[in-house]
Amino acid sequence: MSHPSLQNAAGPLPAVNRRMFLMTTAAGAGAAASAGASAAAEAGSAAPNSGTGSQETRVTINGRRHELKLEPRASLLDVLREQLGLTGAKKGCDHGQCGACTVHVDGRRVASCLTLAVKTDGCAVTTIEGIESPDGTLHPMQQAFLDHDALQCGYCTPGQIMAAIACVREGHATSDAQIREYMSGNICRCGAYTGILEAIREAAPRMRRMEGSRHA
Ligand code: FES
Ligand code: FES
Repeated sequence: MSHPSLQNAAGPLPAVNRRMFLMTTAAGAGAAASAGASAAAEAGSAAPNSGTGSQETRVTINGRRHELKLEPRASLLDVLREQLGLTGAKKGCDHGQCGACTVHVDGRRVASCLTLAVKTDGCAVTTIEGIESPDGTLHPMQQAFLDHDALQCGYCTPGQIMAAIACVREGHATSDAQIREYMSGNICRCGAYTGILEAIREAAPRMRRMEGSRHA
């Protein structure tokens, strides 16, 4: 089934195309979605307590500190999406089977639907909303997904991109076979795997150059 945005792209709304859809889905989702959280927090200061749960949790999300009161059983995915308005990570299966909810915790990719939010106390979480440069330049992996049309409906795309970035950093993107193996936890129901593979293949050396120079 086609996503409504792509139906629009093929139909009477010429202003909406695949590129714009990806920009909003995979790249710019955070701008509007995180308004509630970001309005409350100046850069460098903690957001005020948010939530009605009992467990205090201090977590840095996309570089911004948050002090949250969480239900002990709340998943990180639900807290991100429903409490903080960060809707880039998607709920596909909610059982750790599809990868649509992939985010990074202290630099490691996790299925946020299986991660208790309270377990991120003291951690740094990065979501798809947090990977572009402060000046708005897309992350090389985002740009490569655009350049290779590595999506159809786009629902899996934020998780694919977060997993792909981790795949490169783990050193698991040195061959097509390796990329396929280490991206196998991220399902694309549209079957955009060819473009995804091409995007990762192209972005990997760019990421290594960028991150190498950053750490030099
Ligand atoms: Fe988390 Fe599918 S929603 S793995
Ligand atoms: Fe549709 Fe992957 S692009 S599920």
